[in-house]
Amino acid sequence: MTSTRVAEQYREAQQYLAGGVTASTRLNRALGHPMYFDRAAGCRLWDLDGREYFDLCCSHGATLLGHGDERVKDAVLGAISRGAPCSYENELHARLAQLLCETIPCLERVRFTGSGTEATMHCLRLARAYSGKTKILKFEGNFHGYHDHVMYAIGTPADRLGSEESPNAHPGSTGLPPGLGDNLVLVPYNRPDLLTRAFERHGHELAAVLMEPIYYNAGCIMPTKEFLDTVVSLTRSSGVLLIFDEVLAAFRMAPGGAQEYLGVTPDLCTLGKAVGGGYPLSVFGGKKHIMDRLMPVGDCQHSGTYNGHVVAVAAGLAAVTAYRSPGFYEHINAVAADLYDGLNEILKRRGITAQVRGLGARFGIYFGLSDPARDYRSALRHQRETMLRFIASAIGQGVYFHDYGGGACHHGFCAAMSRADAAEVLNRLDSAVATM
Ligand SMILES: Cc1ncc(COP(=O)(O)O)c(C=O)c1O
Repeated sequence: MTSTRVAEQYREAQQYLAGGVTASTRLNRALGHPMYFDRAAGCRLWDLDGREYFDLCCSHGATLLGHGDERVKDAVLGAISRGAPCSYENELHARLAQLLCETIPCLERVRFTGSGTEATMHCLRLARAYSGKTKILKFEGNFHGYHDHVMYAIGTPADRLGSEESPNAHPGSTGLPPGLGDNLVLVPYNRPDLLTRAFERHGHELAAVLMEPIYYNAGCIMPTKEFLDTVVSLTRSSGVLLIFDEVLAAFRMAPGGAQEYLGVTPDLCTLGKAVGGGYPLSVFGGKKHIMDRLMPVGDCQHSGTYNGHVVAVAAGLAAVTAYRSPGFYEHINAVAADLYDGLNEILKRRGITAQVRGLGARFGIYFGLSDPARDYRSALRHQRETMLRFIASAIGQGVYFHDYGGGACHHGFCAAMSRADAAEVLNRLDSAVATM
């Protein structure tokens, strides 16, 4: 039941904020309103009425260390206490750049941006500048942010998908310039046969293949070995740049992100969310000879007043240092195993057909599927209504899951969650499933 304070707050917000929210996906469709959190610490959140929740959204993946992490807080306060000079270069920029180049396999040079959307936008411009080609191969359903060039074939309804051989470039929003979708070559994820066919037709006109190396935006879909091998061999043999969009994947399962975990080094990558430790920072980068195309050395523009804001960079330096600390991923993996195995067991015991799939600190729950999803189309077959009932019930029991308004979505936990916390989360979810 919606509390009076939440209802009042939402009514108030609707007077001045378009749709009552600051971002369209902030509305939690399982509740019919956005959630308002007054306070957060570690893996917990407190709403306007003081009710406590375990956070299994974690700021859409940004607060991998947890809320209010002391290391991040000290770094942020340190930057603020020195006046936080904005739009000037600072020694923290090069320190974080060096740390990232030492941590993420493909990085030889980096640039900072404020959001994942900006990171993929600039990365694609760079790929086009470097290659002199226009088309981008994108996998159906993979999400790369909100700029016009990538807002196609995301969240496409089942009746608009088109054939698997030739998926529709269905726009994910109104307002996109006509024809822009023609610059995309679309292929279903995990289909090496269709990828090979797309390269036969379009390989010569591709600037890059852009992909989620772990397809977390549909929950958690792993690339098959054959698919990944095909991606690597086709891009290498055709001289097409390979870009891993690790805005969501980076730091989730290894300090070097999905590229370290999968053992594939792309030409370029984007990082976001967790890289800023909860502050607005994103990154694109890669091989030096490609990054050198950026101005002022090269001819490809990338700039912005708030790029690499020193407060976010200080937070990022503290966060990435923490991800590299001994035992960090042992803890993540132990909590992941407890949570994912535990929730699978609860769903099975309660007679609900569902699959919990996760890697590292992020996971998806596929209601109604008895086989793992392998691409956007198979994930779309999940039972959305059941998922919404589960989320509403879990929130009622004090476990916060977010619904982003589309298909199967990603959830996650933070490193501040102990194994005892995970056991308490499972207790609450057992009650949630019993009453959903
Ligand atoms: C893989 C991926 N790329 C890009 C973005 C866009 O990032 P942002 O929301 O910071 O603009 C997201 C956001 O969810 C994402 O998951």
